[in-house]
Amino acid sequence: MKIAIYPGSFDPITIGHIDIIKRASKKVDKLIVALLYNTEKSKGFFSISQRLSMLNLATNELDNVIVTSSNGLLVDLMKTVGTNIIIKGVRNIKDFEYEKDMALINNNLDTNIETFFLFASPKYSFISSTFVRELLYFNKDIDNYVPSEIVSFIKKAR
Ligand code: PNS
Repeated sequence: MKIAIYPGSFDPITIGHIDIIKRASKKVDKLIVALLYNTEKSKGFFSISQRLSMLNLATNELDNVIVTSSNGLLVDLMKTVGTNIIIKGVRNIKDFEYEKDMALINNNLDTNIETFFLFASPKYSFISSTFVRELLYFNKDIDNYVPSEIVSFIKKAR
């Protein structure tokens, strides 16, 4: 069984993330969407449990996608769930620089691990969780940037 993991901080999940999840899930038997801790984004806008709820709502219809979370290292979670394939999306040069180093450190920590990159679809390549958080901060609509399944959850949560 081909299993891959799609890690992120998903604060919150966007339609760009969902696009990558849908495309990647077609190439594997099982895709694990993993909510992990990014120390560079320490505080977080939504709580871990809110983010998990949104991930579950947004991926509910995707049969071979499961959601999990960990407060440890990605490589350790990967041993637990039995995969050595990481999927990441790349929108631009900034993502590329960051993700290249992430891929290298993860491979350094466990040489069995490989990271496979999917380029973001052009129509989603400017969308980020950061912009969604900023729009929410200024009480603006986020409906066009997050999966429809989580719009009402976000409105209730804020
Ligand atoms: O969506 P993000 O914020 O770009 O995702 C980054 C994330 C959470 C996948 C990354 O920070 C991560 O893997 N965190 C877990 C700790 C870890 O394994 N770090 C890499 C090796 S030091």
